[in-house]
Amino acid sequence: MREMAFTPVQPATESQPLQSQLGCDMKLRHVVESQQFTVPLLMDLFNRARGMERVVARGGTLDYQNKIMATLFYQPSTRTRFSFEAAMHRLGGRVLSTEHARAFSSEIEAEQVEDSIRIIGSYSDVIVIRHHEEGGAKRAAQVSPVPVINAGDGNGGQHPTQALLDLYTIYRERPLDGLSVAIIGELDRGRTARSLAYLLAKFERVKIFFVSPPEMQMKPDILEYLDEHGIRYEVESEIERVIGEVDVVYQTRIRPERVADIKGLKRYAIDSAVLRHMKPDAMILHPLPRTVELDKTVDDDPRAFYFRQAVNGLYVRMALLTMLLENQ
Ligand code: CP
Repeated sequence: MREMAFTPVQPATESQPLQSQLGCDMKLRHVVESQQFTVPLLMDLFNRARGMERVVARGGTLDYQNKIMATLFYQPSTRTRFSFEAAMHRLGGRVLSTEHARAFSSEIEAEQVEDSIRIIGSYSDVIVIRHHEEGGAKRAAQVSPVPVINAGDGNGGQHPTQALLDLYTIYRERPLDGLSVAIIGELDRGRTARSLAYLLAKFERVKIFFVSPPEMQMKPDILEYLDEHGIRYEVESEIERVIGEVDVVYQTRIRPERVADIKGLKRYAIDSAVLRHMKPDAMILHPLPRTVELDKTVDDDPRAFYFRQAVNGLYVRMALLTMLLENQ
């Protein structure tokens, strides 16, 4: 495993530029958005994650037994919260948790997230936060005395650790340079899709197809970022036009309540009929949970990687925790 120097965690101040508050370019301090990660940092993370696969296979380690992780979730979660908590337990550390922070923390008494973070940061060594408002994790990072990890913010923010495990899942199977990826679903509010697009932009000769109902297409901020970084992309509303030429299908949820014609949702679904048009070695990923957009008949297809993807979340989050805790 490659050794790297990381900057010790300091409480950020609002006067510092964002990049230095977050700790970028090999100085990972907080994890708030995907753009923070450089390719060398990603490769270091992925090497560590490979090592964590072996650590978990032998039952875990006690290396972090003096460390405490707090998980502060203002929105529901199955995979992210459980995998972070399992990750800390497998590292030998301990966990403080509230799974429904809007009801079971003092924020029900109108306490501000900044005050909560200052307090929880004095009881723990790292905080994982899922916040209902876009920018919630960034606000937390700006005042936290310990590293903050964004576990999803708002409708249309980011979910960087999901994108890290998504990319790791692809990386385990094939080179990331030259990849063609269809990102499908409710992209305007898709925080996992947004974070993944930022990460894919780090690699050479990548092509992204954004496929969604026109009113839910990827927002201009991402498209502008891709333009600035010379990444090829196309905006599509028909799966059939792209499904046969991509290496990775990244399917995401479309909330039925946002669609006037529920039957129209089927146009964006992956089922056994769509499978017939995909490359034989393509990969199907989905951050989960799913609704109608990913039929259960796909589950037994060798191209279905979404359950393995969720398992990879454990390894990647273990690796990320070690990166952030090493400097404490
Ligand atoms: N992929 C994901 O974020 O799942 P959860 O909402 O269950 O954490």
